[in-house]
Amino acid sequence: MQTILDNQAISDQGEQRFAPTDEPPADQHSALSTQHSALQRETVVILDYGSQYTQLIARRVREQRVYCELVEHDAPAAQVMALHPSAFILSGGPNSVYEPGAPQLPAYVLASGVPVLGICYGLQLLTAALGGTVEPHLRQYGPATIEIEQAADCPLFAGMPVTTNVWMSHGDSITAPPPGWRVIASSAGKPTAIASPDGKYVAIQFHPEVVHTPLGSEIIRNFLYNIAGLHATWTPTALIEQAISQIRDMVGGSRVLCALSGGVDSAVVAALVHQAVGEQLTCVFVDNGLLRLGEAEQVEETFQRALGLNLITAHAADRFLARLVGVIDPEEKRKRIGAEFIRVFEETLAEAGDFEFLAQGTLYPDVIESAHPERKSAARIKTHHNVGGLPADMKFKLVEPLRYLFKDEVRAVGEALGLPADLVHRQPFPGPGLAVRVLGEVNRPALDTLRLADAIVREEVLASGIEATVWQYFAVLTPLQSVGVMGDGRTYANMVAVRAVSSQDGMTADWARLPHDLLARISNRIVNEVAGVNRVVYDITSKPPATIEWE
Ligand code: XMP
Repeated sequence: MQTILDNQAISDQGEQRFAPTDEPPADQHSALSTQHSALQRETVVILDYGSQYTQLIARRVREQRVYCELVEHDAPAAQVMALHPSAFILSGGPNSVYEPGAPQLPAYVLASGVPVLGICYGLQLLTAALGGTVEPHLRQYGPATIEIEQAADCPLFAGMPVTTNVWMSHGDSITAPPPGWRVIASSAGKPTAIASPDGKYVAIQFHPEVVHTPLGSEIIRNFLYNIAGLHATWTPTALIEQAISQIRDMVGGSRVLCALSGGVDSAVVAALVHQAVGEQLTCVFVDNGLLRLGEAEQVEETFQRALGLNLITAHAADRFLARLVGVIDPEEKRKRIGAEFIRVFEETLAEAGDFEFLAQGTLYPDVIESAHPERKSAARIKTHHNVGGLPADMKFKLVEPLRYLFKDEVRAVGEALGLPADLVHRQPFPGPGLAVRVLGEVNRPALDTLRLADAIVREEVLASGIEATVWQYFAVLTPLQSVGVMGDGRTYANMVAVRAVSSQDGMTADWARLPHDLLARISNRIVNEVAGVNRVVYDITSKPPATIEWE
């Protein structure tokens, strides 16, 4: 099933420009880290029954510019209704509806009177709750074809061909819809999509949220716009206005601290908070000497000079490199860098004075994952260290304006805030930086060599225009030396590995099939322009069994 998740294309849809205004936006709210969506005029609530695809449903809804939140199927009714749902989507799940203890359809769903889309287990729940029948063990996995009942003329399938391919993944099937309901599509002669007499409730057996259902997005759009009558109001502009209003409400006249890592999340947080409270924000950026070519300068250029933020840069390269002398073990490197970061951060902070709030770039997938810890990968392969990660015992109130956003939405907001495109579309970069891409001991000459090789990889991938299809692309400096020939002379120099992967979320990855002429240009330039390197290899290992980073 992982391949489906890996193949999901994330559409980046934030083209609107945000014009800053001195007027506080009309919407007001108080706590950013609590339920904030009451502000939204239109919110779709997705009840999660444990499907592995539930997060994808949320992404598909957001792609239609409709706000949605994922909520556990057994969340208290008051908590769900506080979101003022405009529609419900019931997710799939691993259970069988008649099983003892199987998750149920909460009474508030139908009592609320709003439109409902049931997907897979959601269809079975609606069917069982309203008097239809579900037959256990009528399994269907994989691709299937459905026939849309033209006569039913259901808006869920508006604009779609009579026959279409879908993705099925279910153990039970419905054999009879609830009394009065219409079958609006079937598969192999069995009902696969049904609608209530008034058309307000629709339910489908297949998964519209996965890419293997090619017209899945149309189906979700049809539900949102045609059946639930919702509007595309969840735009970057709306989102920014709301975030600014919430930050102002929450922070009042207090001071806010934000740790900038050079990545897109902390950059967008800083820009948002700055728009909201201006001078009350101070950013701290730790230059640990392990960044890529030009990265530290770009952070200073963007935030200090272009955006006019209060930025304190801790120039700490010497300290970090001193801590890394003689260290070869990757975990030891990570530990030392993490510890040094905290030390430098705390010292810098001691000079900057008191702050009541800490602004952080927590994203919605992190929030969802912490609510479903069982979905997190259990084995610890590497101690991931986030350079924005701060000591647990710091006593701050948190400002988390990205808490309900997916990564593509964060990028859209960043663009709308006018952040530079190469910052907004920056590829993920590990907290310990280039230290985990210099194999063996990290020192200044090795870092300088790697920085040049890595800059060539980045430049060439960007010039080829394929960067949006690649999750990460970078160089690794190995301590391996091999013999080469340059001019008429023998060389004995280091080997650089080029790594480029495609991935959905970094959890699994495949090596990217970069065009051969691109690889040739990268290799040529590295051996010609980077002293001390005479051989370039391309890493053709997927994750698993390898990891994306080499250490
Ligand atoms: P691996 O190497 O574990 O990497 O396959 C998966 C993704 O995580 C990034 N990565 C890190 N990110 N702190 C981070 O914030 C870290 O310590 C860290 N180590 C790896 C890596 O670049 C890839 O995107």
